[in-house]
Amino acid sequence: MIAPSAFARILNVEDARHAARRRLPRGLFEYIDRGCEDEVSILANRRRLDAIALSPAVLVDVARVSTEAELLGKPQPLPLVIAPTAVAGLVWHDGEIALARAAARAGIPFCVSTQSITSIERIAAESGAELWFQLYIWKDRQRMLNLLDRAWAAGAETLVLTADTAVGPNREYNLRNGFGIPLKASWRAALDVARHPRWAVAVMLRALATSGVPTYAHYPAEFRTRLGREALSDEVSLAKDVTWEDVRLLRQRWRGKLVVKGVLRVEDALTARSHGVDAIVVSNHGARNLDCAPGPTEVLPQIAEAVGGRMEVFADSGVRRGADIARFLALGARGVMIGRATLYGVAMGGTGGAGRVLDVLSAELRTTMGMLGAQKLADIRRVEPSHLHG
Ligand code: GLV
Repeated sequence: MIAPSAFARILNVEDARHAARRRLPRGLFEYIDRGCEDEVSILANRRRLDAIALSPAVLVDVARVSTEAELLGKPQPLPLVIAPTAVAGLVWHDGEIALARAAARAGIPFCVSTQSITSIERIAAESGAELWFQLYIWKDRQRMLNLLDRAWAAGAETLVLTADTAVGPNREYNLRNGFGIPLKASWRAALDVARHPRWAVAVMLRALATSGVPTYAHYPAEFRTRLGREALSDEVSLAKDVTWEDVRLLRQRWRGKLVVKGVLRVEDALTARSHGVDAIVVSNHGARNLDCAPGPTEVLPQIAEAVGGRMEVFADSGVRRGADIARFLALGARGVMIGRATLYGVAMGGTGGAGRVLDVLSAELRTTMGMLGAQKLADIRRVEPSHLHG
C-alpha cells in the first residue's frame, strides 16, 4: 500500500480528480468523469448543490461533533456508502478490492457492481467490508437470480436495484474515444495506453500477467467477452422490460434489505414503499444517463416528506465536498452515496488514495458541522428558500 504521506498534497476531491486524470488513459478517465449528451446536468448538479445554503446556529458547544449514522439498521461512523461503479477494477489493479478495503477502514459499506471486474467472492474474502450488491437486471431472469444467490452466499445482505438505466445512455465521448467493455484494440487505444505508462504497467500488464484481459467477473463464464470478441450474449445484456413486477420478484426472493436506486418522483417512491422496499436512492446517476433529468436536490425534499419515516431515503450525484453531504442530509436524506470521488481516489493510489478521499470528505463534513453548530447529523438545517427571497 502507498504510504498515507504520499497523499499529503491531495487536499480535496478536485485534487484527487486531477491526479486520476494524469494517471488514467483518457478513454477510461472520461468514462468515469463525464456525463451524457451535452453534459448539461453534470454542471446543473453542481449549481443546484451550490444553491443550497445551510443555516448556522451560533454559540453551540461543538467540541464533540458526531457524524454517526444508522443506515438500514446498522450504526456506522459516517452517513456514507461507496456507490456501485462499473469497471472500478480497471482504474487500479484489483480496484474493487482496494475500494472495499478503504470502505472497511472507514467503517462504511461498499456496494459491489454487477459490472464489477472483480467478483464479489474475492472482494468479500480480501476486504472485510460490509458489502452491498448492485443489480442490473439481465434479460434472462433465471441467470439474474443465480447471480443473487452468489451475492447472498458471499455475504451481501443489501441488494440495490438500479432503476434509472432503462435503456443504454447516450455518451458520445465513449464513441469518440473508443472506450467500452469489451475492450477493443485500436491504434487510438494503444496510443492512449502508451501515453499513460504508470497505468499500463500497474494495471493492464499486471492483469494480463495474472488473470488475463479484464472483463466483467459476474457474467457467466461462457458469456464473458474477451478482447476482440463480439458483444455479450443477449441473455445477459441489460433488459429493457424491467418493471415493478421485477421488484415484486426481488422482494419475494431476496431475504435481506432491498434498495431501489435512481428514484426521482414522489409517486415512484411511494410505489417502492408499497412493494416492501427498505430504502430508495434519490439520484440522477451522477448525471450520466438523462441530461434533462432533475437534480436529486430538486426532488429530495418532497420525496422525503411524502415517505415520512416509513422508508429510508438516500441520495447521491455530485458530492465533491463534505458540505454536499451535509446539504443532502439537510434536504432529508439519511445517507449519501459517493461514486466518482472515491474512484478518483482509488485511481490515484488504490486503498490509500480512496481512504484519503474519504478522510478529506469526513474532515470537511466535521468542519461544516462545527461551523453550523450541529452536534449531530440531525441538527443540520438548510436555509428555507422562502427565507432567501422573502
Ligand atoms: C453505469 O452504471 C454507468 O453509469 O456507466
